[in-house]
Amino acid sequence: MGKLQGKVAVITGGTEGIGLATARLFVNEGAYVFITGRRQKELDAAVTAIGSNATGVQGDVAKLADLDRLYQTVSNVKGRIDIIFANAGVGEFVPFPKVSEEHFDKLFNINVKGALFTVQKGLPLLNDGGSIILTGSVASVKGTAALAFMRPARLRFALSCAPGPRISKIVVSDQMLLARVQSIRRSQTGNPPM
Ligand SMILES: NC(=O)c1ccc[n+]([C@@H]2O[C@H](COP(=O)([O-])OP(=O)(O)OC[C@H]3O[C@@H](n4cnc5c(N)ncnc54)[C@H](OP(=O)(O)O)[C@@H]3O)[C@@H](O)[C@H]2O)c1
Repeated sequence: MGKLQGKVAVITGGTEGIGLATARLFVNEGAYVFITGRRQKELDAAVTAIGSNATGVQGDVAKLADLDRLYQTVSNVKGRIDIIFANAGVGEFVPFPKVSEEHFDKLFNINVKGALFTVQKGLPLLNDGGSIILTGSVASVKGTAALAFMRPARLRFALSCAPGPRISKIVVSDQMLLARVQSIRRSQTGNPPM
């Protein structure tokens, strides 16, 4: 029996790269996955590549209405979540003098706002003892321009879910900055995560 037998996972940015590799692994371990991405064609191809136990929900994590639609679908199909993997993100590299407002807004909207609301809006469906995983980056400690500002924001969000009555454990690997938060209790999700 797989390590994730019967578990339900939501993976944003699951059409390629780290997200798709994670989705494949989770399904191989017995989970059912919901994956997201903005491009429908790539999303359909990813669901086909995973093969079974996967649903694709097209959407942009920077758009709250899309996140609402994602979790409504999860609620309708499975009714609960065991793992939220806020993975969707973009990296665009420009020299500091070339950082524009559009560049800044795009990166923060997807990588910071998107991650925060992916977690916040998924909490009501998250089982007791569920896991939240945020993809980080070495850019939080060694980065370029807007990325260097952005990644610590994501990490701070993870750390703000510090161990306490709501969360029993948080593990942050120093360089990859993969933050794992465990045991958020559904009964306590009325409280803000910060
Ligand atoms: N690969 C690296 O070396 C590296 C290094 C540091 C950090 N990271 C971080 O790790 C995560 C995954 O990276 P990766 O290399 O696997 O990326 P990737 O191969 O470029 O895949 C990114 C995924 O995110 C989706 N995505 C992008 N923007 C989105 C949005 N606004 N809403 C929903 N989905 C969105 C993409 O699909 P659509 O384009 O169709 O939306 C795609 O499925 C990202 O957060 C990235 O910043 C990666």
